[in-house]
Amino acid sequence: MFEGTNCDIIFFMKTIINKIDKHKNLENDKMKNLIEGAVNKAGTVLRDGGLVAFPTETVYGLGADALNEQAAQKTYLAKGRPSDNPLIIHISDLESLPLIAKYISPKAEKVARRFWPGPLTIVFEKTELVPYGTTGGLETVAVRMPDHELARAIITAGGGFISAPSANVSGRPSPTKAEHVVEDLDGKIEMVVDGGDVQIGVESTIVDMTSDPPMILRPGAITQEMLSEVIGEVIMDQALLTVDTEVAPKAPGMKYRHYAPKAKLVVIDGEIRDCIKSIRVLLEEAKESGINIGVIGTEESIGQYTSGIVKCIGSRENKETIAQNLYTILREFDQENVDIIYSEPFFVDNLGDAIMNRLMKAAGQHTLKAIEVISNK
Ligand code: TXA
Ligand code: MG
Repeated sequence: MFEGTNCDIIFFMKTIINKIDKHKNLENDKMKNLIEGAVNKAGTVLRDGGLVAFPTETVYGLGADALNEQAAQKTYLAKGRPSDNPLIIHISDLESLPLIAKYISPKAEKVARRFWPGPLTIVFEKTELVPYGTTGGLETVAVRMPDHELARAIITAGGGFISAPSANVSGRPSPTKAEHVVEDLDGKIEMVVDGGDVQIGVESTIVDMTSDPPMILRPGAITQEMLSEVIGEVIMDQALLTVDTEVAPKAPGMKYRHYAPKAKLVVIDGEIRDCIKSIRVLLEEAKESGINIGVIGTEESIGQYTSGIVKCIGSRENKETIAQNLYTILREFDQENVDIIYSEPFFVDNLGDAIMNRLMKAAGQHTLKAIEVISNK
């Protein structure tokens, strides 16, 4: 809990946790005061070069003043993040964009107007205002306007340009609840604004608009089809389409092993019925050999697993729940005594690419063909 990037740095800050609980039965003006108080405090900390974690619609972000190189350094230190991994700058209005993006192509403007505020990050050439400390030395800058009122209020209060990587220790699953942030960063940052659980649960789509055709560097809730409908051809970074780890992804952060639980995770590949059958076979085998197994299943399937530690990730009928619960489940398995976790695959519409991209990364690309498990029985 107390380690820095490459040397033993001891953090002993008192982290303020400011809870804004929408479900509390507060009268409107009391709630307004509560929110205003938290936003003002967060703004002051950010302007002073401090770190504030806050919710967005995708995951919790670790905010810092994006134009202050020292604040960026603090971010890298708190997360234990390699300093060549650039930060996304979050803005709260479109007028701020030309100050940090050198050239906004007509296609880029169309995309920004259509999907902002929202779970989309756009890569532009950077202006001189943006320090290299924020972009990891790159000439480009990634920008996002989140679809979360509290987040935008904090961005405005903090000066309008707030870098915000996911608020987790590097390599851990992104936080979808304030509790996850506290787990990872308590004592290392000035403040956490707790605005409850996030809505989407996986990080934003990243699209690079400096290349033609534009290229998706990270899949998220805004899909290739949605982007293509607005601006025509959009391609995928080749590294996203292969399990070959030799192909380097274009977004620097995508090359690092992320989201990895302590136990080995294996994603079962095949028709869902075969996958369930094969996990049952693997559970039976494990009983005999004394291996502790974890299973990631859905509301529809968990009743069919009669041993092992089984966790429900959501419902295939309500696909958004699968994205919402993915990182919580990966974190929960770190508290369990399991040797290996088997997960069903989740090729569902829309968010499917994003979910499978994160799940496969967590699994270090390990898969097992359902058919082979069943036929080897
Ligand atoms: O949903 C999100 O995007 C969340 C919330 C907090 O907004 N943020 C987030 O940030 O996921 P982070 O730092 O965890 O991931 C940022 C990704 C990294 O893979 C990084 O390498 C990539 O964006 N990135 C940042 N700037 C880039 C640039 N100029 N060119 C290419 N990739 C870039
Ligand atoms: Mg991250």
